Amino acid sequence: MEEKILVLDFGGQYNQLIARRVREQQVYAEIKPYNKITLEEIRQEKYTGIIFTGGPNSVYDPKSPHYDPEILNLGIPVLGICYGAQLMAYMAGGVVSSAEKSSEYGKTIFRAKASRLFKDVPEESQCWMSHTDFISQVPEGFTTTATTDKCPCAAMEDDSRKLYSVQFHPEVTHCIYGNQILHNFLFDICGCKGTWNMDDFVERSVAYYKEKLAGKRVLCALSGGVDSAVAAVLLHKAIGTNLVCVFVDHGLLRKNEGDWVESIFRGQFGINLVRANVQDTFLSALAGVTEPEKKRKIIGELFIRVFEEEARKLGKIPVLVQGTIYPDVVESGAGDASTIKSHHNVGGLPERMDFEEIVEPLRDLFKDEVRKVGLALGIPKELVFRQPFPGPGLAVRIIGEITFEKLELLREADAIFREELEKDDIRSVASQYFAVLTNTQSVGVIGDSRTYGYTVALRCVTTDDFMTADWTRVPFEVLERASLRITGEVPGINRITYDITSKPPATVEWE
Ligand code: XMP
Repeated sequence: MEEKILVLDFGGQYNQLIARRVREQQVYAEIKPYNKITLEEIRQEKYTGIIFTGGPNSVYDPKSPHYDPEILNLGIPVLGICYGAQLMAYMAGGVVSSAEKSSEYGKTIFRAKASRLFKDVPEESQCWMSHTDFISQVPEGFTTTATTDKCPCAAMEDDSRKLYSVQFHPEVTHCIYGNQILHNFLFDICGCKGTWNMDDFVERSVAYYKEKLAGKRVLCALSGGVDSAVAAVLLHKAIGTNLVCVFVDHGLLRKNEGDWVESIFRGQFGINLVRANVQDTFLSALAGVTEPEKKRKIIGELFIRVFEEEARKLGKIPVLVQGTIYPDVVESGAGDASTIKSHHNVGGLPERMDFEEIVEPLRDLFKDEVRKVGLALGIPKELVFRQPFPGPGLAVRIIGEITFEKLELLREADAIFREELEKDDIRSVASQYFAVLTNTQSVGVIGDSRTYGYTVALRCVTTDDFMTADWTRVPFEVLERASLRITGEVPGINRITYDITSKPPATVEWE
C-alpha cells in the first residue's frame, strides 16, 4: 500500500517545513488545514501516520483550532508537535497550563528517556522551543518521555496506542536530532519504507491535474525563470495542448535569452507558446525615464497589459497556472515591511485579471525541491539551475535612461562576463552575477585616439537567501580576462569596475 503522511495543519509557522522534512526522508507528505479534512476522509485516505503541527493558540482559547478526539482512536500513529502536542494532551484528557513567566524560546537542552521516538538520540541534546503553555499533567495511559529545566513534559507518549508528542520543534535545524526523531516516527513507528521521490511527485501531480482540468483551457505566463518553467512543463504533461503559454518578450532580456526560452518550450517540449515581441512598446514607455521605482512601475503595469491583450486574443481561458512556490507564499503573507524595491513577478498577475480558477502546482515546494521536479521533468540543467533574474530585466541594470543602444552594450558586456566566470566554474561559489551599465562616461585611449565611453560595473554575489549577500572574491585573473574582453569587443565601453559592496548596505541589483 502506498505510504503517505498527513500533516494536519493547526496554523503554526513551520508547517511546510515539517512536510519538507518528511519528504526529505523520501516519504510522501500532504498538508491539510485541520478544518478542511474530516475524520471520515482521514479514515478513507488510509494515512500511514499523522503529524499535528504547531499553532499560535492556547488549547483553552475558545477560538483555537480543535479536532475530533476520535482521531486518536483510528489506530494511525500520531506525532503532535508544540501546539499539536498540547492538543493531543487536551484531547486525551490531560491538563495544559500556561507558564507566563517561564515560557521557553529558542535553543534548549532536553533530556530524553527511553522511547522508540528517541532511538539513537543522546540522553541530553539541543532542541528548539517556542511556547508559553505546556502539558502539566499527561493523560491517562501516557508517560513523560522528555523534560527540560523549565518544562516538566517536553515529550509524552502512549506507545501502546502509537501516540507521541513533543513540545519542541524537531523540524527546525536547531533541533540537532530533529531528523532522527522524525525518522524514528516515520520508519520505526509508522513502518514507512521511504520509497517516494520527485518522480512520484510529478506522476501524482500529472494524474491529479489531468482529471481536475480535463477539457479546460489553461493559460500560463512564462518568464523564463525556473518556477514558471517547471509549472508549465508539469501542466503540459497533464493536459497537453490545452495549455497555452504566453511569453512576453519585453526586450529587456539578456543576450539570446528570448530565443533560448522559445527553443526550450516550443522546440524541446512542443508547448503551445505565444511569444509577444513587444520590445518597442516597452522602450517607448521607458523613454526618458531615469527614476528606478518609476521604471519598475511602468514595466510591471505594461507587462500585465500586454499579457492581458495576448490572453484576450486567445479567447476565454478559465484557468491560470502560476509558478508560486512556498517561499513566495510566506513572503506575501509576511506583512508590509517597508518597500525597498517593488518587485515585479508574473506572480502579481491575477489581481486585475478575471480567472475562474488559479492553479499553483508548486505551492508547497521549496526552491531546491522545485529544481528536483524540473530535472525529473527533463528540463535542461541550464534552466533548472538558472540564477535569479529580475522581472524588470536589464532595465534595472542600466542606470539612467534606457535606450536600445545601451541595452545592446549591456547585453554584450554581460554575456562576456558570465562566460568568463563560468569557464572558472563560478557556480560553485557565486549565487548571481551580471554586468551593470552605469551612466558614467569617461575618457580613455585606444591606439592614438581619445575615447569617451561608458563604465561597466561587474557584480557577483554569494548568498543563501538574497536577503543579505556578500561580494564574491572572484580571482583577479578572471576579472582581468573579462575586462580585457569587454573593452576589446564592445565598442562604447572603455572602463570596467568590480562592485565590492555587500548587501546591506547595497542591494544585489543596482536599482
Ligand atoms: P536586491 O536587489 O533587492 O535583489 O538585493 C535581491 C534578489 O531579487 C532579485 N530581484 C528581483 N526578482 N523581480 C524579481 O523576480 C524583481 O523585480 C526583482 N528585483 C530584484 C535580484 O536579482 C536578486 O536576486
